[in-house]
Amino acid sequence: MTLYYRTKILGTGLYYPQKIVTNDDLARSIDTSDQWITERTGIKKRRISSTKGGEFPTDMALNASLIALKNANLSPNDIDCIIFATFTPDYRLPSCATILQTKLGITNGCAAMDISAACSGFLYALNTANSFIQTGMMKKILIIGSEMLSREVDWSDRGVCILFGDGCGVAVVGRNEDPNDKSEILSTKLGADGTGREFLYQTYGGSVNPITPEIAASKERYLTMNGKEMFKVAVRTLTDISLAALNSAGLKGIEDIDWFVPHQANIRILEATANRLNINPNKVVINIEDYANTSAATIPTAFHQAVSDGRIKRGQLILLSAFGGGLTSASTVLRY
Ligand code: ACO
Repeated sequence: MTLYYRTKILGTGLYYPQKIVTNDDLARSIDTSDQWITERTGIKKRRISSTKGGEFPTDMALNASLIALKNANLSPNDIDCIIFATFTPDYRLPSCATILQTKLGITNGCAAMDISAACSGFLYALNTANSFIQTGMMKKILIIGSEMLSREVDWSDRGVCILFGDGCGVAVVGRNEDPNDKSEILSTKLGADGTGREFLYQTYGGSVNPITPEIAASKERYLTMNGKEMFKVAVRTLTDISLAALNSAGLKGIEDIDWFVPHQANIRILEATANRLNINPNKVVINIEDYANTSAATIPTAFHQAVSDGRIKRGQLILLSAFGGGLTSASTVLRY
């Protein structure tokens, strides 16, 4: 028998920026309408970080982490590792994880690293943490999905800007040593298909194309997306990777799942995926209406909200699934 430690979600937290931008607000500056955005995406509003400070990705992560640590009944110095998923970091260097370590006042020299897997980032972080815990290498890990997408979208591009928002979700995971406690990560599937890179990309800002004064002044530095292709890939990928995770968790089928928490990219993607998976729509946790697509933050924020309002309960079986730029994908089945 292979020996491994079980991983439990000990606590969760979130932070959303104060500023709310509604569809009607957007319709005052671009050629769109609340009706178009609502019908095509399910989004009514989003939160936008202050550019003056206090709501950058590591600031949001600090607020959300303190809530998660409190819920887990832990102190910052109990943490062995910080894994920070984002593709909109505060800086290219140092990593957000090391900045957050300092902001949390952690003095134990814990490991800290960022993960870049776009919207699948939080599940990549969760499953990296799970591996560290299962092998016995670490006991308590802080995982974060925090994004300030408002900086990366062209606010005059109506095909893209309407979809995104800012926010942060956090979970503290740890070794479950109580044999009577059934909480555990049961299965994980991570995947990628680099051939789909042209569906969502940012050409400038890396080593190949640094930001020059001309680029900084132009719209070329922003996110570019092929929405139609992303839509098709999203439904197919979310379905396939969810089924793979369900299969390797050894469940009878989707009917065993109490809650499905998918990446929130478009309500129609979620409905189509739920339909293909044949899961009861009432079991799908959705927060896209109020917060839009916050990339790596959508799953941990939706999860935290459902735990906080009593929908997700200890002992229940949860399916988490994501897809994103890269293209990356990830799915996890866990007993909360
Ligand atoms: N308001 C009004 N009209 C609009 C808007 C807007 N905001 N945006 C586009 N239109 C127009 C288009 O110009 C087009 O007009 P035309 O027919 O005169 O040319 C028409 O509406 C239809 O445009 P489509 O692009 O075909 O609209 P579609 O139904 O595909 O919806 C959308 C676009 C909402 C972007 C959709 O494709 C989508 O959500 N795709 C998935 C995006 C996604 O999953 N992104 C996730 C990325 S990964 C990650 O999460 C980081």
